[in-house]
Amino acid sequence: MSDQIYFHVSDEWARTHRCGEVGSGQVDQEVILAGWVKRVRELGYLTFLDLWDRTGIVQLVVEKEQDELHELFRSLRAEDVIVCRGKVRRRPDDMINPDMKTGEIEVVASEIRILNKAQVPPFTVTSDVQANEDLRLRYRYLDLRRDPLQRNIELRHRLALKVRDYLSGEGFLEIETPMLVRRTPEGARDYLVPSRLQPGRFFALPQSPQLYKQILMVAGFDRYFQLARCLRDEDLRADRQPEHTQIDIEMSFVSEEEVYRTVESLIAEIWSAAAGIDLKIPFPRISYDESMNSYGTDKPDLRFGLEIRDCSEIFASSDFKVFRSVVEEGGSVRGISFEEGAGYSRKRISELEEIVKNAGAAGLAAVKLGEGVVTSPISKFLSDGDIEQFKRIFETKVPTLLLLVAGPDATVLTSLGLLRNHLGRQGLEQESGNSFNFLWVNKFPLFLPADGGGWEPAHHIFSMPLENDLKFLETDPGRVQGHLYDLVCNGMELGSGSIRIHHRKLQEKVFKIIGIGKEEAERKFGFLLEAFEYGAPPHGGVALGLDRIAMVIGGGSSIREYIAFPKTQRATSLMEGAPSQVEDELLEELHIRVVRGNDKEG
Ligand code: AMO
Repeated sequence: MSDQIYFHVSDEWARTHRCGEVGSGQVDQEVILAGWVKRVRELGYLTFLDLWDRTGIVQLVVEKEQDELHELFRSLRAEDVIVCRGKVRRRPDDMINPDMKTGEIEVVASEIRILNKAQVPPFTVTSDVQANEDLRLRYRYLDLRRDPLQRNIELRHRLALKVRDYLSGEGFLEIETPMLVRRTPEGARDYLVPSRLQPGRFFALPQSPQLYKQILMVAGFDRYFQLARCLRDEDLRADRQPEHTQIDIEMSFVSEEEVYRTVESLIAEIWSAAAGIDLKIPFPRISYDESMNSYGTDKPDLRFGLEIRDCSEIFASSDFKVFRSVVEEGGSVRGISFEEGAGYSRKRISELEEIVKNAGAAGLAAVKLGEGVVTSPISKFLSDGDIEQFKRIFETKVPTLLLLVAGPDATVLTSLGLLRNHLGRQGLEQESGNSFNFLWVNKFPLFLPADGGGWEPAHHIFSMPLENDLKFLETDPGRVQGHLYDLVCNGMELGSGSIRIHHRKLQEKVFKIIGIGKEEAERKFGFLLEAFEYGAPPHGGVALGLDRIAMVIGGGSSIREYIAFPKTQRATSLMEGAPSQVEDELLEELHIRVVRGNDKEG
């Protein structure tokens, strides 16, 4: 046996087919197959073995008289690696397995070699694995052997291929931009890399190729794309990773419309190729204000209605003091009409109240509207006229359950937005099939009030104000909307972009509003401002999240399932143990001193 462990694949043992490729076309042929053992079963005089590789599973069988081979087969365990020589034969009719790609045949083994024995795996490598995610990430190579992950990684490959193929066909060039870059703030925290040759100086890893792609436009590259690795040290969620991949696109001499058209065609191509689904383009568009007012979020899930409506007017002169004073103080009363909720118990309604309370709302007022009856803790404050007004504002049938929140606009909208998603998505779970509801959200504000006073960029600082709003730049920055757009699908932001500023003076003006003076602008972005002075064409672009696209098409719930080697929620890699401590000599060379006590491995 021991020499078998070191068995290498010689020409004599070169595999003829992959496991999933053997079928009735090979009946009576001799084949050599290699792969991983999934299962060994003894059935009377026969021994069966399921052999797996990426293409599928094939059944090997040892016949009665082959004692030695039986023994060898029976010594095998799941995940051992073998190569087997045998003859393909049709299975008897009653043994045909229509659920298996190779289910019409089996391979009668004549000889095998064990290429490598496996330890007992820490979890069984099956589609519906039970092990927790940390254990699976620690042994990622085993996890990746599971069917769903194999399919996800293959899907990702097909997406990338399609993107390259389509954009190249449209005259885009794929150009790589550096991974070691100058630190330029872009919203998230940077990962820093110390320079050995320049003591005390640091590179940053790119949060995105934003500035480089703009400079490529100045360089005349006209239509650029890149499947770009982006690195951000930010708090993680199911749709965020410290390393992610963007389909990064930039174009010169384009209008916002042309960017929409390019992205819509690309997305339609991707969906058609990867999911066989014909999407209807162009996608609908709504403005940021409309999105916030109707859905309480800038990434609305439009697979369901449940629009938020403003019913402050009903309470402006109401006897219900609590709501009236909210309206008098400049806040609002808004709500959702939820017809399925008409039969909800008090307990279910108080569960809904928890959702809005967790989002900062003071409470949730429920009003059940029936045919001529109103049931609500606030019913005594509601006149017949009020009820009629509710029906008109919510354009609703009865019976229905109105769910109302009162307070400052931002809190009311955010909390109702979360409630809306909760109510809408619970309805979707019962529906089968995939639906993809795309839209553009545009006309984002360029600036938001900063915590300590002043203004901060709402998205990134290189976006062009809408022409009509240029006049407010200095006088009323909060009113300035930009040529900014997000692509949203089923409530998730899949992409984001803008038409950029390409004039030094305008860019400096925007820097000034967010508190970046001339000297700081020169220090941080001098290279970009300088490039603008050497013939910068008008340009704009977008970046789409490849990991998120894979997750949405694949129907998954975490992007970690679509990345071969993802990080945990704590931004660590459990398989190789990264980040790790490094030798003192290395730190010395890099001119770095670690504050001891803070460097415990976590
Ligand atoms: P933005 O930061 O909005 O824009 O990113 C663009 C898209 O990339 C995806 N994405 C992520 N995916 C996974 N994990 C993350 N941590 C993560 N962060 C972003 C999202 C998002 O819509 N330079 C600009 C784009 C531009 O203006 O052209 C940018 O990076 O799908």
